[in-house]
Amino acid sequence: MNNNAIGVFDSGVGGLTCVSELQKILPHEDIIYLGDTARIPYGTKSKETVFEYAKQDVAFFRKHNVKMIIVACGTVSAVMMTYPIFENDELSSGVLYPAVKAACEATKNKRIGVIATSASIKSGGYGKAIREIIPDAKLVGQACPMFVPLVENGYTDRDNEVAKIIARDYLQVMIDEDVDTLIMGCTHYPLLKDIIGDILGNKVSLISPGAEAAKYALNALTENNMLSANNENGKLELYCTDSVELFTENVKTILGSDINGEIFRTTLK
Ligand code: DGL
Repeated sequence: MNNNAIGVFDSGVGGLTCVSELQKILPHEDIIYLGDTARIPYGTKSKETVFEYAKQDVAFFRKHNVKMIIVACGTVSAVMMTYPIFENDELSSGVLYPAVKAACEATKNKRIGVIATSASIKSGGYGKAIREIIPDAKLVGQACPMFVPLVENGYTDRDNEVAKIIARDYLQVMIDEDVDTLIMGCTHYPLLKDIIGDILGNKVSLISPGAEAAKYALNALTENNMLSANNENGKLELYCTDSVELFTENVKTILGSDINGEIFRTTLK
């Protein structure tokens, strides 16, 4: 048993897609969330810059003495395949491998699409991980740089015309290439899943990397006998590195208005 919190981070609110799943499947766990909103987006930056940011994100959690760190950011998860940020004995997970595993289990025709930030697509990390499981998989990658600003500005409703036009443009290649499984490889993207689902139809399985990482955390904490002994609902503590007001608005849109947690501003070094 271990009652320390689980640390979850992203460049912004995308990683809350992991938090909402954690709250469902591990309701007694305390969670500390960090959104590096002052430096979002990560996905348009070089891998060296993302690596520097990620090291600071991890250092923040080491100070908070968490029992596990989840990198709920597809971009950092892809970059850390070549630039590792964890020590060997730390319990941690990115979102890339859990998402890839779920996609490889879901696909029937071995045609898997990945939408993600430009940095993630450029890294080739998703393709490499998919081919380790299905060597002859056909991978269709598409960077969607305008999705993160849409989400951070609340353009996520199913009827949002701007979001629909942009999504149709990005996703046409997935229809042309007949993918049957799509990894929404940036944790912000599942917040657009109604729009994405309407365009691709219900025959395409949509994989949420944040949700898959939460399932991985459940297994890892169970196997390591590190679940919380707490019987009450876990506490949520949220940190951002820019305006608390804007972050609070976004958090409420995603987790609901009764978030039952406190929100603070912090600086990263
Ligand atoms: N949510 C992020 C990801 O999963 C990052 C988006 C960004 O900062 O560009 O890649």
